[in-house]
Amino acid sequence: MKEKGSEYVKIGEILAGKFTGKKVKIRGWVHRMRSSGGLVFVVIRDAAGVLQCAVKKDGVDEKGWKDATSVFVESAVECSGTVKEDKRAPGGFELGVDGFHAIFVGEAFPIAKDQSVEFLLDTRHLWLRSQKLTNVMKGRDYITRYLRQFFFEHDFFECTPPIITRSACEGGATLFEVDYFGEAAYLSQSGQMYGEVFSFSLENIFILAPSFRAEPSRTIRHLAEYWHLEPEMAFYSQKMNMELQEEMIEFVCHKMAKEHPEILEAVGRDPKDLLLVKGPFPRIDYSKAIEKLQAKGLKIEYGQDMGADEEAELTKDAKIPIFVHNHPKAFKAFYMREDPDKPDTVLSNDLLAPQGHGEIIGGSERIWELDELMQRVDEQKLDVKDYQWYIDLRKYGSVQHSGFGLGIERLVKWMLNLEHIRDAIPFPRTINRAYP
Ligand code: 4AD
Ligand code: MG
Repeated sequence: MKEKGSEYVKIGEILAGKFTGKKVKIRGWVHRMRSSGGLVFVVIRDAAGVLQCAVKKDGVDEKGWKDATSVFVESAVECSGTVKEDKRAPGGFELGVDGFHAIFVGEAFPIAKDQSVEFLLDTRHLWLRSQKLTNVMKGRDYITRYLRQFFFEHDFFECTPPIITRSACEGGATLFEVDYFGEAAYLSQSGQMYGEVFSFSLENIFILAPSFRAEPSRTIRHLAEYWHLEPEMAFYSQKMNMELQEEMIEFVCHKMAKEHPEILEAVGRDPKDLLLVKGPFPRIDYSKAIEKLQAKGLKIEYGQDMGADEEAELTKDAKIPIFVHNHPKAFKAFYMREDPDKPDTVLSNDLLAPQGHGEIIGGSERIWELDELMQRVDEQKLDVKDYQWYIDLRKYGSVQHSGFGLGIERLVKWMLNLEHIRDAIPFPRTINRAYP
């Protein structure tokens, strides 16, 4: 199919075999090239793929030959020719070129092979054109699309919270402060508290927005700015909450494996791994998880939060995600409801991704009664005035409700088998980087 109103065809269509033997015009960027005498192979890429184009000196006019022999990697070009099948060419097709035009030659591209991680981060605005990141960004888009699809099919409404706020959701330690017309305000760590507001009007909602954490550490799974999917459901128990997480993860994994296996394969994830992801996921009580970790020789005590090492230990041999639930009240957020059956623990869950990836979701049932919330606000020494609006929700028609937060980049890192979270987001924001 040609673009509407365009004489150009997309490389993806050629690679799908739709133009074999036909004359076409394409345009894109030079991915690489090599020449030998009167023949130049220019591999051209567009958003959908790369195509080898063979330009012969006597197959094009003089200007065409001059252009084909003077372009750089990443120069913008267009060319015409006849498509033929060729097993030796990348993707199995080659264009026999009869017309070549350089749209924009530009300068020699600064990124070559074997560049350092820091250099590639400094030139992120250009490195995003690489095949690796192109595939990751497509994968990220499909994953978020499928997540949205899942919630729309379940009749959830998408809602938008403020980003500048006065109330910390996840404690003060990782807040970014902004000077808000002379007063202190913060970048949102989570839209959850606003999600709870919406759940008392629209019942089942989700938020997909950036969250900010002033994380002082350099790790392979923390960003200072990340995208956060936060569903919140009225009349919902923690059990229902965990079942929804399970169903959502299974849905997105299967969709990706069935509809875009080529992207998974390109980034080194076997689609079969994701087809294995099926609920119910194992559920392990926090206290049992601690015992298990201690038995394996890890130095963690009951009452401490798990870190990357502990989560990696729990999940390294797993093929599907694992729930850890019922954390001690003492180190969890103030809004989590205490479990009436297991005092001093809350109705909470983390969902840990397999193969050592670790936490991708944090969820809980929320305190919905005023007295219980006031007691926790008091225990955690929060300033009531910053939370008055949130407390108010427990005065008028408050009902049982639950929700969770999924880190999009954590999910992408696991599903696309990435080593580092920075590659799951186009422009990573980390402790020493806000450029480009
Ligand atoms: O576990 P967290 O802190 O939970 C909350 O923020 C809740 N208010 C969410 C809710 O119930 N609506 O964060 C939720 C998820 C984590 O499981 C993780 O996937 C991701 O957000 N996350 C991060 N991702 C990247 N970089 C960071 N610094 C992250 N911090 C949390
Ligand atoms: Mg968490």
